[in-house]
Amino acid sequence: MRYLTVALAKGRLAELAMDIFSSIGMDCEQMKEKTRKLIFTDEKNKMKFILVKASDVPTYVEHGAADIGIVGKDTLLEEHRNIYEMVDLGFGKCKMCVCGPAALKGQLDNVINLRVASKYPHIAAKYFREEKGQTIELIKLNGSVELAPLVGLSDVIVDIVETGKTLKENGLDVLEEIVDLSAHFVVNKVSMKIEKDRVMDIVEKFKEKVSGEDGK
Ligand code: PRP
Repeated sequence: MRYLTVALAKGRLAELAMDIFSSIGMDCEQMKEKTRKLIFTDEKNKMKFILVKASDVPTYVEHGAADIGIVGKDTLLEEHRNIYEMVDLGFGKCKMCVCGPAALKGQLDNVINLRVASKYPHIAAKYFREEKGQTIELIKLNGSVELAPLVGLSDVIVDIVETGKTLKENGLDVLEEIVDLSAHFVVNKVSMKIEKDRVMDIVEKFKEKVSGEDGK
């Protein structure tokens, strides 16, 4: 039997996913030890778990380096990869929003060439083009996006809001909500053919866990 490889988005999503893998009988103990290792093996179930940067999960899955991935919908919307989205896991809930100074609330449509900074240029561009029909200037950043309006790099940002703490502590507000986000279970298209039974067994178990059908 070949190994099935699961790509997990490093951080909180990986931890929540590991809890589910453990609860369906996979051995994730090694992963819970705080090491810098990136590959973990469950010999009994012939599974490998790899820890990757969230935005790279769809890449590993599309290319078949991982059969399965657990990743946020934000990354899926931004990356647009040719993979199957099997289950909305319902955890890692947050929203993609346009955020900025409160003074801009209700005013975005009036700003000519609105400057928008984001780690998610495709999501931001699509929202303003297709839903608002507004021309913007897009500024791609890789992190600490909330800084951009504070130092005059942009007028607003398009970013994830989870607790709202980062916005609050930096004096920014949600101006418009774009889409609800959560973690998703994704599968490589070839793996779905050649390992259908094993993959679907895990998919079904995940579905049961997240819908709480088994009462846990
Ligand atoms: C994410 C996101 C926001 C923040 C939202 O950033 O880009 O900045 O979390 O969370 P909150 O609403 O609970 O405050 P992340 O922590 O990934 O860091 P980054 O800005 O360096 O990308």
